[in-house]
Amino acid sequence: MKFEDIKTIGVMGGGVMGGGIAQVMAAAGYRVIVRDLNDDLIEKTREAIFESRWGIKRAVEIGKLEFDKARATMERISFTTKVEDLRNVDMVIEAVPEKLELKQQVFAELDKIVKPDTIFVSNTSGFVVAEMARDVSEGRKALFAGMHFFNPVPAMKCVEIISTPQTLPEVTDAVFRVGEQAGKVAVHVKDAPGTYGFIVNRVYAAARREADKLVEAGIATKEDIDKAMKTGRNWPSGFYEERGGIGRQW
Ligand SMILES: NC(=O)c1ccc[n+]([C@@H]2O[C@H](COP(=O)([O-])OP(=O)(O)OC[C@H]3O[C@@H](n4cnc5c(N)ncnc54)[C@H](O)[C@@H]3O)[C@@H](O)[C@H]2O)c1
Repeated sequence: MKFEDIKTIGVMGGGVMGGGIAQVMAAAGYRVIVRDLNDDLIEKTREAIFESRWGIKRAVEIGKLEFDKARATMERISFTTKVEDLRNVDMVIEAVPEKLELKQQVFAELDKIVKPDTIFVSNTSGFVVAEMARDVSEGRKALFAGMHFFNPVPAMKCVEIISTPQTLPEVTDAVFRVGEQAGKVAVHVKDAPGTYGFIVNRVYAAARREADKLVEAGIATKEDIDKAMKTGRNWPSGFYEERGGIGRQW
């Protein structure tokens, strides 16, 4: 496969993120196959893609998506419980729970099943990508990258593309293009062993640590920090507001 020819995408895990990723990829024209563990979970994913606040039905209702395009988007998504059904996809996006061992197992299993030139990406919030690739073949390590979306995926514009020292530049470029094709603003980040998180979550966490220090030292109140950041930096919300405040889109 030429990396510019990505047409089919497998999504491992149809939860909060996997459902959103499947939706934006299908809307961008890719054929998508979502794998989750049982039929109930699959039904929940299908419902979320169609009926959630950010789903396809509402997009039609508020005039953001034409009916025919909505139908075509839904038709491009299929679901399965069998990992073997992903054998012919051009790219796999992994969105299983944030447990390193689970992700390593999922990728090792997939490595044996899918085509040798399939690109693997993980939507991890912060694991070192090379560590998730530990148990795949050497050839696959060159095709392995990160693709960190934000929640809710249909609404959040950013996607962080993470490359390891082994990721082929053509693969990073291909993953970048998939992100842009899905309507996202893609940014590049290098794998950084010994850290957790990429750009957005690390910068957020650093600011949050500083804000907590101000509160603990009695220098400023939570309310005043939120007020200051919203009016002094134009943040859409503060750290401490009810309903989570800024930065909850992990
Ligand atoms: N929720 C967020 O705000 C957010 C934002 C960015 C990134 N992430 C990352 O995305 C990933 C998924 O998070 P989520 O919030 O969507 O989790 P989730 O729990 O909503 O979904 C995970 C799904 O994976 C399924 N699953 C478990 N093992 C599987 C396997 N072997 N094969 C296929 N499916 C399997 C589960 O049944 C579940 O439906 C995590 O790595 C998380 O850190 C989450």
